[in-house]
Amino acid sequence: MVKRQKKNWVVPIGAVPTDFDLKILSYQDKGFIVPQNNLIKTPEQIEGIRQAGIVNTGILDMLTTEIREGMTTGDIDRLVAQYTADHGAISACLDYEGFPKSCCTSINEVVCHGIPSDEEELFDGDIINVDVTTIKDGYYADASRMFMIGNVDPKVKRLVEVTKECLEIGIQTAKPWTFVGEIGKAIGRHAHANGYTVVRELAGHGTGNAFHEEPTVDHYDTRHKGMLLVPGMVLTIEPMLNMGERHVFIDEADGWTVVTEDELPSAQWEHTLLITETGVEILTH
Ligand code: MF3
Ligand code: CO
Ligand code: CO
Repeated sequence: MVKRQKKNWVVPIGAVPTDFDLKILSYQDKGFIVPQNNLIKTPEQIEGIRQAGIVNTGILDMLTTEIREGMTTGDIDRLVAQYTADHGAISACLDYEGFPKSCCTSINEVVCHGIPSDEEELFDGDIINVDVTTIKDGYYADASRMFMIGNVDPKVKRLVEVTKECLEIGIQTAKPWTFVGEIGKAIGRHAHANGYTVVRELAGHGTGNAFHEEPTVDHYDTRHKGMLLVPGMVLTIEPMLNMGERHVFIDEADGWTVVTEDELPSAQWEHTLLITETGVEILTH
């Protein structure tokens, strides 16, 4: 049986295809996965996502000056909620599929989706990822950073730094008219060259008009090309690197917290990017 490739890109009946349409159609006709039309943002949508990005970056910058030893992750959550409200925005995390707080706070062996708590204090030597997603006028921007508390073991510091390099390499790899699979290939290569593993269960994603859109952005070599990258697409890259094994589990107690199987540290950095005619624009800088 011949399996027919799903036709993502559609030119309305009666419309004259533009050069842009023809270019995408030429990839589609060769059997490559191309974006659906609605993944290409309009200039108005891009401006909206940019504005959401400005608030989101403001939150992370504010945390950079506020986060310190002795604070709880509940304190971090309140800072995020207050800043978000003060800027006329909404946290995308709060109530998302039942998530109870306004950001994710993931310490040491927690990979991602840690739930802020008044019972959880930051200690000297901890590393913490804070992942913030902001909705402004209906548009989404999603980014996370690592914060190091006091004296962090140089080996752990190196994990944090290499993970940031992996995000930067992913961003440099993301170019129009290449494929999303190239991003994970480049990230995986850099992670492994430095002796780290890459988490596979969670991925980057399209975003902007909703929290999570197509395509999936894997951070390892899946051996698939994945979707064609086209100017106007908005997506996140958010590699998670582990010091030990790549395997993770979800804490049954809360159904959210993702933890490394061997309880060795994990790090993550995330940006939201616009694919432009020539490369990318980071919308969460
Ligand atoms: N911000 C995360 C991401 O990068 C998703 C968090 S979902 C939540 O995709 F519900 F845990 F907030
Ligand atoms: Co994300
Ligand atoms: Co995020």
